[in-house]
Order: sequence, then C-alpha cells, then structure tokens
Amino acid sequence: MKITSFNGSPWGRQGHTYIMKYEFLFGAQQAGAKIQDIQLVEKKITACNGCGVCFYKTPGKCVFKDDMEGLIHQYLSSDVVILVTPLHMDNVSTLMKAFMDRLIPMLEPHLEKDSQGQYRRGIRSDKQPKLLVMSGCAMPEHNQFEALQFFFRRFARTMHTEIVGEIYRPEAGLLHLASVDIQFSAAVEEYRELLRAAGKEFVETGEIRKELSDRLRKSLIEPDRYAEYANNLWDRLLPKRTFMGVPVDILEKKNHKNISVEPRKSSPEATE
Ligand SMILES: Cc1cc2nc3c(=O)[nH]c(=O)nc-3n(C[C@H](O)[C@H](O)[C@H](O)COP(=O)(O)O)c2cc1C
Repeated sequence: MKITSFNGSPWGRQGHTYIMKYEFLFGAQQAGAKIQDIQLVEKKITACNGCGVCFYKTPGKCVFKDDMEGLIHQYLSSDVVILVTPLHMDNVSTLMKAFMDRLIPMLEPHLEKDSQGQYRRGIRSDKQPKLLVMSGCAMPEHNQFEALQFFFRRFARTMHTEIVGEIYRPEAGLLHLASVDIQFSAAVEEYRELLRAAGKEFVETGEIRKELSDRLRKSLIEPDRYAEYANNLWDRLLPKRTFMGVPVDILEKKNHKNISVEPRKSSPEATE
C-alpha cells in the first residue's frame, strides 16, 4: 500500500497535527506501507485563479508553473492520501485549501450524475486514491469538527473517491504541552501509541476499526479541566492583560472606541 500524506499546517514539522500524522505513518510503515510525507508549507502552491485553462485550453494542465504538478503526480500515484490539517475557522487551513483547489485539473468539465443522481464533474483518471483525513484543534469537544467533516465528505464526492478513515483530535495543544508539563505525559503517550496502532491496523485491514476509533476519540483530559488549564495558561502568557498591545482595562473604559493600536509583535509560542 502506498500512502502519501499532505500536511496543511503552517507550522509544518513543528505543528500539533504533524505529531498525529507522524505516529500514524510510523505504524503504517512498520506494517509494510510505502510512505511519502509532504509538508505543504515547504512547497510553492499558487492560489487557483479560476481561469479555466485546465478545462479547455490545456486539458488537465494548470497555467501555473509551481510545485503542484509534482504534488498531483504524488497524489495520483498513491493508494491512499492522508489530508492533514489544523482546524482553522471550522475548516481546513488556507494552505490545505489552496492545495485542494489546485487539484481541479484532475477534473473533466462535463457534468455527470453520481450514484445518488446528483451532478458533479467528470474525472480524468479512473484510479483515484482513497482519502484518510486528520485534524487537530484547540477546543475540547469533537463537534468542533462538524463543518470540516462535512466539507471533507463533499470533497471526496467531488473527487470521485471515498473517505476510509477520519481522525480528529480536540485539545491538540496538549500534544506539545505534554513535553513541558508532566501531568499530560501519560495520556499523550497513550494517544500516540493508539495512533501508531491505527496506522498499523489501517495497512493490515484497510480500515480503522470502531474499537480503536472510539479510543482515539477519547478526551485527553476532561473538557472543563482542559478549558481551565488553557485559560490559566493564557493568564500567564498575557501578564499585562493586553489585547493588540492595549491594556484591557483601557479598552474596557473606552468601550473599544477611538483606540489606535500598534500591530502586535508576533510570538510563536502564543498560537495555542
Ligand atoms: C487561523 C486559525 C484559526 C483557528 N480556528 C480554530 C477553530 O475554528 N477551532 C479550534 O478549535 N481551533 C482553531 N484554531 C487552533 C488550531 O486548530 C490548533 O492550534 C491546532 O492544534 C493547530 O495545529 P498545528 O499546530 O498543526 O498547526 C485556529 C488556529 C488558527 C491559527
């Protein structure tokens, strides 16, 4: 089985979702899969401009000369593609969306009906990889992924394929925090082991069975405790209680009006 993962986190190899994908691929590789692991942030992917040239002028070929041609080749030569993305505003990251949009040269412009009688475009290559999707988010509940899950399912339909596995991780910030706060180590290590087991099981059986799926869905810590911990962390990260460089008490007094704010100095640690 050839598996290619495309990771849409802007944090690339330093992201939380990277850990999820890494462990899954580790298990898959141990079970004999051939692995390709791609960080989209390391690639040049121009946003689709909707010109339509790939439909009629140079069928199947995009006008942009960037890394997408090679990525499409890797996509199509896989049995299974893993789409890995952080949850960004309830959906895929911008990087992942740019990648997905640029898969459009694989479609053929004619409209045809799917097995449910609903129209979609044709597809140039009958052999489409199956999709496994993976995402992490900052909030503690699973229903945070509702829109994303729906979007992935529609995308699979559009691409004439199916979703063969879904792994969603709320509280994903704990995956990194476990290395600095020992209280999360055991839960995170157990989760990482489950991901490796899922990768292995997937290669051996073609699915992640319900029992393992259910265990992967379990909270790392109870949601209210997680929220309390996260809020305490924010209180420590924002010692002056500022928003966009302005002390919060001033914002409150002036009722958010007529305040000029300096751009915030970026702090990579403060993304969670
Ligand atoms: C632009 C942006 C939007 C986000 N939107 C959401 C969101 O809608 N829900 C959520 O729970 N977390 C949201 N997050 C948090 C990320 O999903 C979370 O930090 C995730 O673990 C990041 O994964 P990464 O480190 O692999 O990029 C957002 C983060 C960013 C930067």
